[in-house]
Amino acid sequence: MKILVTGGAGFIASNLVDKLIEAGHQVVIIDDLSTGLKEYINPQAHFYQMDIAAPKVEEIFALQKFDLVFHLAAQISVIKSVENPELDNRINVLGGLNILACCWKHQVKKIIFVSTGGALYGEAEVIPTSEDYPAWPLSPYGIHKLTFEKYLNYYSVVFGQAYTALRLANVYGPRQYKGGECGVVSIFIDNAVNDRESIINGDGSKTRDFIYVSDVVEALMKTIGTDYAGAINIGTGIEKSVNDVVLAIELALGKSIKKKNGPAKAGEQKRSCLDIKKAKEILNWESQVMLDDGIRKTIAWSKAKLDK
Ligand SMILES: NC(=O)c1ccc[n+]([C@@H]2O[C@H](COP(=O)([O-])OP(=O)(O)OC[C@H]3O[C@@H](n4cnc5c(N)ncnc54)[C@H](O)[C@@H]3O)[C@@H](O)[C@H]2O)c1
Repeated sequence: MKILVTGGAGFIASNLVDKLIEAGHQVVIIDDLSTGLKEYINPQAHFYQMDIAAPKVEEIFALQKFDLVFHLAAQISVIKSVENPELDNRINVLGGLNILACCWKHQVKKIIFVSTGGALYGEAEVIPTSEDYPAWPLSPYGIHKLTFEKYLNYYSVVFGQAYTALRLANVYGPRQYKGGECGVVSIFIDNAVNDRESIINGDGSKTRDFIYVSDVVEALMKTIGTDYAGAINIGTGIEKSVNDVVLAIELALGKSIKKKNGPAKAGEQKRSCLDIKKAKEILNWESQVMLDDGIRKTIAWSKAKLDK
C-alpha cells in the first residue's frame, strides 16, 4: 500500500515508518521537523518537509494518491498547550482538518489518528479507565485531541470517510528523548546514563500507564486491518508510579540514581491507567513488553547514543 505518515520524523511515527517499510509498504512522510529529527527518517521513505496546515499539502495528496494515512504530527506538549492554546488548536485541530479534508477529497480508504488516553479522561474515578468514561480533558491539548476525534466521527457519518482513533497511554522508548519535554521514563533514563540528577515532582506516588513504543507500533499495524470507526485505548492496563519507574531504572542499572523530590506540579493528574479490553477484542492486541524490560531496552539505546 502507499501510506502517508504525518509526523514521520518523530518518536512514535519514525518507529512506525520503519515497521511499515519492513512490511513492504511504500511510505511518504510529511513533517515540519519542529520536534522530529531528520536522522530518524527512514531513507526508503519519501520525505516532504512541510507544515500539516499548509495548503500545499493537497498537492502531495493529488500527486501521491495514498491508500492509507497515519496522522501523528502534533503539538505534543501539554504545558505548551496551556501556555498557548491557539497554537495547539492551529496544529492539532486545523492542521488535522487539512489532512482529513484531503483524505476525503482524494479518496484515501482510511485515516488512523493517534489520540491521547492519558490526557483525555481528566482525574478519572474509575481506574483502569475505559473509552466510555466521560471525556472532560484538563488541558487544551486533550481538548483538541478530543475535538479532532469528533471531526473524524463527523466525516465518517456524513461523508463516509473510514477512520480509527487510538488513544495512547504514556509511551516511552528509543528516539523519545530529544532534549526537550517528553515522558518521565525517557527523561530519567537520559539523566541516569549521563549521571545527572532527576527531579521527582511531589512524592513520586502519581501513577501512569507506561507503554513501550514497539507495543504501540504493533497496535497501529493491527489497526490497518480493522474497519472499526471509533476510539480504542492503547496501554498496558497496569498502573505504575513514578517511584516504580525510578526503582526499575535502578534495578536495570544495578545502582541507585541521582534523584531528589521537588514540589508537586499543580494540575498534574494523580492517577491514569487505561482499560484495554476493547483493543483485545477489536485488534486482538495486548502489550507484550513489561516495564522493566522496556526500561532495559531504552537504557541500551541511550547508552549506544552516548557512545556515538
Ligand atoms: N509520546 C506519548 O506518550 C504520546 C501519548 C499519547 C499520544 N501521543 C501522540 O502521538 C503522536 C506522536 O507523538 P511523539 O511522542 O512521537 O512526539 P514527537 O514530537 O516526537 O512527534 C511529533 C512529530 O510531528 C511533527 N510536527 C509537529 N507539528 C507539525 C506540523 N505543524 N506539521 C508537520 N509536522 C509537525 C514533529 O516535527 C514531530 O516529528 C502525537 O500525535 C502525540 O500527540 C503521544
